[in-house]
Amino acid sequence: MGNILIKNAQIVTMNQAEEIIIGDIYIEENVIKVIGGNLPINHVDKIIDATNRTVIPGFIQTHIHLCQTLFRGKGDDLELMDWLRKRIWPLEAAHDEESIYYSAMLGIGELLESGTTTIVDMETVHHTEHAFRAIAESGIRAVSGKVMMDKGDEVPLALQENTAESIQQSVDLLEKWNGFDDGRIQYAFSPRFVVSCTEELLKEVKILSDQYRVKVHTHASENKGEIQIVQEETGMRNVVYLDHLGLANDRLILAHCIWLDEEEKRIIQDKGVHVSHCPGSNLKLASGIADTHHLLCNHASVSLGADGAPCNNNLDMFNEMRLAALIQKPIHGPTAMDAKTVFRMATIGGAKAVGLEKEIGSLEIGKRADLAILNLHNFHTFPSYDVDPISRIVYSATRADVETTIVDGKIVMENKIMKTVDKPI
Ligand code: GUN
Ligand code: FE
Repeated sequence: MGNILIKNAQIVTMNQAEEIIIGDIYIEENVIKVIGGNLPINHVDKIIDATNRTVIPGFIQTHIHLCQTLFRGKGDDLELMDWLRKRIWPLEAAHDEESIYYSAMLGIGELLESGTTTIVDMETVHHTEHAFRAIAESGIRAVSGKVMMDKGDEVPLALQENTAESIQQSVDLLEKWNGFDDGRIQYAFSPRFVVSCTEELLKEVKILSDQYRVKVHTHASENKGEIQIVQEETGMRNVVYLDHLGLANDRLILAHCIWLDEEEKRIIQDKGVHVSHCPGSNLKLASGIADTHHLLCNHASVSLGADGAPCNNNLDMFNEMRLAALIQKPIHGPTAMDAKTVFRMATIGGAKAVGLEKEIGSLEIGKRADLAILNLHNFHTFPSYDVDPISRIVYSATRADVETTIVDGKIVMENKIMKTVDKPI
C-alpha cells in the first residue's frame, strides 16, 4: 500500500450535494485525504494522469453468486424452480475446491474490470472457504457467506445438509473471515430462500445474526411458483414470514422482491429492509419486473445486483443500471427512473445496504478509496465536460470504458489486468 495521486480528473463525487468537480484526488494508505484542487506532486508512490478521465465511486452490487460464474450458458431459457432443479443445483453439487475458487476468481475479474468494488455474495453449500480465498487474494470488498439449505426433497443429495451442520459450518466461516483485512471482508448468513430452509434454521440465523451483528442475505418473492410453495408451507408470504421470525431489520438484504403485496412493502419500508434489484436476472428467468419506482417513492432502500452469471450472462453494473432505468419507463413514464436515481442505487444506495455508507459509496475526504477511473471520451460526440457523465455512464458506458479500479487504496485492476494481492492465503 502507498500513496496515490490521481491528477486532473472529472470527479463524480456522489457526496450529499452530488457535486461533479474537476481536480485531483489524493489517497493515503486506504483513505481519500484530499479531493479537488491542483495538488503538488510530492512524495507520492503512484501518479495517475486522469486528464479527460472520469472518476466515480466503485459500484456496489448487493446480490451476486460467484460460485455460479462457471455455469454461464448452462442454464438458459428456464424459469426459476426448473432452472434450480435441473441446472443450478446439480452444477453447484459438482463443485470442488478448485472449481469454486476459479469460478469466484473469474467472476471477481469481470466485476473489477467493470468498476464494481464491493459485492454481497452468496456461495453454495460446500467449499465456500475457497471462494473466500479468491475474495481475499483479489482485493475486492465483499460481504459473503455459505448458502444454507436444510430442507427440500428436490435438492440433490450432495447439497442436502442438516440444520446443525449448516449452522456450525457458517459460524466457523464467520469466525475465520468476518472482519478480514481491516474489515474488507464481512460474513453474511445466507439461507438460500424460504423454500430451502427449515424454520429451526431461520430462527437460529436470527439469533446468530443479532449476536454477531452481521447481515442476512437471502432471496425473496422472485417467482410466483416460489411464492406458492412458501405460502403452502408457511401460510404466509415471504417477507411476512421473515418478519414473523424477527428477521426483517436493516441487516436483511432481500434479492429480487418482485411480487410484493402491500403488507410486504410496508414491512420493507418500516423495518429498513434492503431490496437488491436484479433487473437482468428478473428478465432472463422470466420472473417479472420489480416495481422499484414505487419502492423508491416510498423511501425503501433499493440497490442493484447482477445475480449469478447463468441468470444474466453479464456481471457488469452498466448492464444492470441501464436495464433498471429502461424497464420502469414504459410502465411509469420517462422520468420514473432517471439516470441519477439509478446511479445512486449503484453507489451510495449499495453502501447503505451493506451498512458502510460512512466508508464507501461516494468520493469524499475520509472515506475509503474505492473507485473506478473511466475513459468516456470514445463516445460519439465532441469530447466535452458538458455531456452529463451520469447520463453517459448509465445509458451507454460499457466495461471497456473502465481503465483502473481501486479498492481500499489499492489498484486491483489496471488496463484489464488483475493485480492480486501479493500474499495468497
Ligand atoms: N432462488 C434460490 N436460489 C437462487 C439462485 O441461485 N438464483 C436466483 N436468481 N434465485 C434463487
Ligand atoms: Fe440469486
